[in-house]
Amino acid sequence: MRSVTEADIKDKRVIVRVDWNVIFDKRGEIEDDFRIRQTLPTIKFLQERGARSIILLSHLGRPSAEDKGNSEFSLRPLATYLSNLLGIKVYFFTEDISSHLSKKIKQLDRGSIVLLENIRFYPGELRNDDVFAKELALLGDIYVNEAFSVSHRKQASLCAITKYLPSYEGLLLEKEVQRLRQFLHNFCPPVVIIMGGAKTKDKLPLIKKFLLQADYILGGGILANTILKSWGFEIGNSLWDKEVLEEAKSLGSRRAELVLPGDFLVLTKTGKVQKRGLGEIKKTDTILDIGPIAADSFVKIINKARTIFWNGPMGKYEDERFSQGTQKISKAILKNNKAYSVIGGGETLASIKDKDKFLGQDNIFLSTGGGATLKFLAGEKLPALECLK
Ligand code: 3PG
Repeated sequence: MRSVTEADIKDKRVIVRVDWNVIFDKRGEIEDDFRIRQTLPTIKFLQERGARSIILLSHLGRPSAEDKGNSEFSLRPLATYLSNLLGIKVYFFTEDISSHLSKKIKQLDRGSIVLLENIRFYPGELRNDDVFAKELALLGDIYVNEAFSVSHRKQASLCAITKYLPSYEGLLLEKEVQRLRQFLHNFCPPVVIIMGGAKTKDKLPLIKKFLLQADYILGGGILANTILKSWGFEIGNSLWDKEVLEEAKSLGSRRAELVLPGDFLVLTKTGKVQKRGLGEIKKTDTILDIGPIAADSFVKIINKARTIFWNGPMGKYEDERFSQGTQKISKAILKNNKAYSVIGGGETLASIKDKDKFLGQDNIFLSTGGGATLKFLAGEKLPALECLK
């Protein structure tokens, strides 16, 4: 893959695909801006190299064409946010991708930054459509993929567009690939994999792979609920993933020990927070965190690890009553300076409040990728990276 540092940028219109698929809180504020901040070095690099214009593309959520105009999926707040971060105007254009839009961008001052509306409003994006990609490509002279975290998707602004423009990897994408490769090459026992959160379907292949290679797999969140349910345990009203129930049944300790929580914090039908052991969960309970005994035993295992990968919170981390499991895990990883650790995924990163401490540690890498990082570590090829080669 060619790095953006090798590109001739002066006076070029540069299309940059970023992944600003961020989480908004109840007040509509960005809960975690890590994915935005991580793309700033590339934007600044392009400005310094004299790009004529920087045209940013991103998706937000999983809208369809009918959602166009629905503010829930609009990138407008992100244009304002970027403008505040950079201290300059960021143009936000909602019109269709066309020669008219191309002309409009050309008329802007040199060095202008433009953010286009959610790229997933266009049906051609999801279909990786060549005609759409060609129209998109007409907006720029070169293309930069700075969206590692969505590079596991075969979509037009990631794949098909590379047929029509000289294409490069962004600084963050380059770093992600390098640090994840380093992680795979430096596997040093004990290897501890911590998996929680939702998207169980994405996580099972990695668990299967690491059951043969790691020493411990610690499970929490919806993932643990699903495995426990598949083994016949009562999990009450808790969330679980129907789609992978059968597959989860066959999971068990192999080389790696699969460790699941034996106690939980649940919300009862009367709205009380209670500790419950596995086997004591009532049909009306909802599991929302791992219990203190499970958290402490996970921490003991993390303390002796030399390689750690963590994806997915242990519970409903955004509700303080159910954040203790996730917080204990993150503190233990931060404290273990003998391990090389990778932490990835939107929710996982959002659950870490003191990110600067983690960023200051050479032995810890915060990956912007959730599903993309899981696939990369499981040895699968990521379509958007293949297209850049
Ligand atoms: C993510 O949040 O993992 C990426 O932005 C990919 O989003 P997607 O799963 O909707 O493609």
